[in-house]
Amino acid sequence: MKPQSNKPTTFAEVAAVEERYQLATYKKMPIVAERGEGVWIYTSEGEKYLDLYGGHAVAGTGHSHSHVVAAIQAQAEKLLFYSNLVYSAARAEAAEKLVSVAPAALTKAFFCNSGTEANENAMRMARMATGRQTVITFSGGFHGRTADSISATFLGKYRELGKPNVPGHIEAEFGDFESVRALADESVAAIMLEPIQSMAGVRMAASDYYQALRELCDERGIVLIYDEVQTGVGRTGDWFFAGGEAGSQVVPDIVTLAKALGSGIPVGACLVTEKISASIKENDLGTTFGGGMIAMAAVTATLEVIESDGLLQNVKTVEAYLRQRLAEVPEVAAVRGRGFLLGIEFRTPAAPIHKALLERKIITGTSSDPHVLRLLPPLCLRCEEIDLFVEALLTITAGL
Ligand SMILES: Cc1ncc(COP(=O)(O)O)c(C=O)c1O
Repeated sequence: MKPQSNKPTTFAEVAAVEERYQLATYKKMPIVAERGEGVWIYTSEGEKYLDLYGGHAVAGTGHSHSHVVAAIQAQAEKLLFYSNLVYSAARAEAAEKLVSVAPAALTKAFFCNSGTEANENAMRMARMATGRQTVITFSGGFHGRTADSISATFLGKYRELGKPNVPGHIEAEFGDFESVRALADESVAAIMLEPIQSMAGVRMAASDYYQALRELCDERGIVLIYDEVQTGVGRTGDWFFAGGEAGSQVVPDIVTLAKALGSGIPVGACLVTEKISASIKENDLGTTFGGGMIAMAAVTATLEVIESDGLLQNVKTVEAYLRQRLAEVPEVAAVRGRGFLLGIEFRTPAAPIHKALLERKIITGTSSDPHVLRLLPPLCLRCEEIDLFVEALLTITAGL
């Protein structure tokens, strides 16, 4: 019989029990997150943190938005779950709403549970649609940790963790069109990319690069997949990077989504064109929990909040203000990215700045670029919270 603790409440108790019983696979912040509201996280010790990391890009609508919470509660009282073997009004509504905000060419949705699963299904659809097997992905891209997605991830140590990797994955240099063109032969089913590489330090290509990829795929019968697990659902100030101005309005054949799609309820999705959907038959794809009612209620409510709270416009306005204010910080060398997926490049290493911000109760993210601090805040962040952040940065960096 394993020993059972009393209900842990203080930071020390919760941390000790979690460390005792959970695999030590994450480096954690010294916070017990107890409650959230908008851009704020409240701890077990009654402290409040400004969350510029958005719970890992998940809290797009802000923490525990009342409309999302009410939709989940209402659905929970009716039916927690039934699989895709029955029709569901919640699923019908979510699919229709998601397709309605997507670029016009993306007409159908497949629901799953996470980002890695969305990418696995996207690659599988590309192979089915083309009868080919190879997938080209890019240096610095991150696509998840299940077998096929980790094999598509050419970033640091990740691919190694997935050994022996799934065959048929090759790597091109992100942003270098010649590198991908040289690899795109008749064996290639898909070219898949994070249109803004987040984990790599928020790297973007020139807008005509996306157009060139689209033309290459059209010319060679290759499926273009955007992994929008981070860039999707309003984060860039557009609904998606797909169809947006930063990517020359290019629309890929498949967009994958997760993270902010359910405001915290696990849900992933692939959005596909008519052409891709025509090549998918009954039983080709599936997952028990995909399209479950709670997740679907969360998706619909999330998209409704983004519209009703004017969050796309807010992202654009507040991004502009943040860039203007960051220009006052001499240690900032560059600000990369778009909307609320931003990488602040410092002249000195970012880790001490990240730590000092946390001591001042501001949560930010690091990246695999040691000079870049990542911001992935809720889309409801306001200028007054930017002021708190920039004032803290000015104080911290003055003391470096
Ligand atoms: C761009 C991108 N793709 C895929 C994934 C994997 O998503 P998940 O952790 O939901 O499997 C992530 C997760 O961080 C991601 O950032």
